[in-house]
Amino acid sequence: MRAMKRLVILISGRGSNMQAIIRAAAAEQWPAQIVAVICNRPQAKGLQIASDAGIATVVVDHQSYADRATFDAALAAAIDQFAPDLVVLAGFLRILTTEFVSRYQGRMLNIHPSLLPSFPGLATHSQALSSGVKVHGATVHFVTPDLDHGPIVAQATVAVEENDTEASLGSRVLEQEHSIYPQAIRDFIEGRIALENGQVVRT
Ligand code: GRF
Repeated sequence: MRAMKRLVILISGRGSNMQAIIRAAAAEQWPAQIVAVICNRPQAKGLQIASDAGIATVVVDHQSYADRATFDAALAAAIDQFAPDLVVLAGFLRILTTEFVSRYQGRMLNIHPSLLPSFPGLATHSQALSSGVKVHGATVHFVTPDLDHGPIVAQATVAVEENDTEASLGSRVLEQEHSIYPQAIRDFIEGRIALENGQVVRT
């Protein structure tokens, strides 16, 4: 039998992507265990969802640290005690230091609510609407020191409708996120994708 892979999920808020991953892992019987959910906000809704699912939760509150470097060091220490094979950023809204990112090179994924490299950063749906693109979407990528960039693992597209609002467009994109992110994580866990020399390779 293959060894179970260990996943740590990082969240900051609502946790709907985390929830989609928890559900898919259980429903599809992934050879993986979500060993912890770590959050930088003590009040985040997602923490309750994780503990209801019987998953260990840890809060590393960024407000308790003087600067990014000390926060990232505390975060890395919290992550490493669970010895994960993969770190999953699921709505984790902190800019990470290069040192932190390098530590998890090739074993950290993120989801971003746009078709990267378009619209990095925040407010992606309003950026999409004001730019007039006809196609928008979501991207799963390996995390590199370059914020919201990094080798692309998966994308899903959503057509922009004439009467779309930030909310309506965002909810269709979110639906796609909930489908491509679990799939990409499963591909990683089962060894179908990896990062080699800065590129995603499929085996
Ligand atoms: C998602 O849109 C994700 O792409 C972005 O932040 C949002 C988090 O939502 N990075 P949730 O916490 O997963 O519900």
